[in-house]
Amino acid sequence: MKTRDRLRIAMQKSGRLTEPALDLLNRCGLSFRQSRDKLFCFGEGEPVDLLLVRDDDIPGLIAQGVCDLGIVGRNVLREFQLVGGRDEPPLHEWRPLGFGRCRLSIAVPQEIDYQSPQTLSGQRIATSYPGLLGEWLRTQQVDAGVMTLAGSVEIAPKLGTADAICDLVQSGGTLVANQLRETEVLLESEAVLAGPQTLPADERGDMIELLLKRLDGVIQVRESRLLLLQTSRHSLEAVTRLLPGGPQPTLLPVAGQPDQLMLQALCAGEVSWRQLEEIKLAGAREMFVLPVEKMLA
Ligand code: PRP
Ligand code: ZN
Repeated sequence: MKTRDRLRIAMQKSGRLTEPALDLLNRCGLSFRQSRDKLFCFGEGEPVDLLLVRDDDIPGLIAQGVCDLGIVGRNVLREFQLVGGRDEPPLHEWRPLGFGRCRLSIAVPQEIDYQSPQTLSGQRIATSYPGLLGEWLRTQQVDAGVMTLAGSVEIAPKLGTADAICDLVQSGGTLVANQLRETEVLLESEAVLAGPQTLPADERGDMIELLLKRLDGVIQVRESRLLLLQTSRHSLEAVTRLLPGGPQPTLLPVAGQPDQLMLQALCAGEVSWRQLEEIKLAGAREMFVLPVEKMLA
């Protein structure tokens, strides 16, 4: 294979991962000129180009060395390693990217009395993930028929061609629309940055390391929230105990109210309404959750 000096990243051409993946790369300082056929995008600042392809093709392109990295669902990556890429060198999940979250689940028609995985024994299960399903069935020691379909898996029980399905669930809307009930989660998935286990020993390897560092910074800031609140000294301990993970909070005096403190905490992830309500019950008030734009420690 001819060696390249520019890095090439494969990502989904059109689908749920496309927008957030492009946005993430932009935040890492990469921008692209879209070519007319929209399959190959030339990188403008850094020597990094994009290849826009079907998501199922991404692991194979990396394994063959056509691309150096890929942004792809963990489900697609794992399935490849179990089925298509069994004989290829293993791929590595370099970073989870925090978007495109979904799960690979078993679902059965609403009216089925599902007790345990054994309920599936002797049944036909339709799926686009025969590798992952087969592996799960083996660990559960369930003997079931696996029916591989490329798409529209959720319709199979209604058509009478399968008794259950194993498919991706995000909102659960597809299951509800097809009168199916989720009974087992086989895999929690999200978009990941995938690549070979060992990085290329040339400039591309250096570029990947640089990219990983930028990515870590971007992900850290994206998930950070600054939580501001007021509390009495009396409630401080109870409030502090409920704060989402992160470094020690900063405490500031409140002018004219010696009993009150202003608390400032950097939180590692989202702060939910429920968490806020609990912190408030513990005695906090005047609470603000702010996004963090840039951070330099
Ligand atoms: C996936 C999956 C389900 C649906 C689940 O398909 O196959 O059909 O999403 O999402 P929901 O729980 O939010 O309804 P997708 O739209 O990604 O298309 P694909 O199967 O053609 O890849
Ligand atoms: Zn797909």
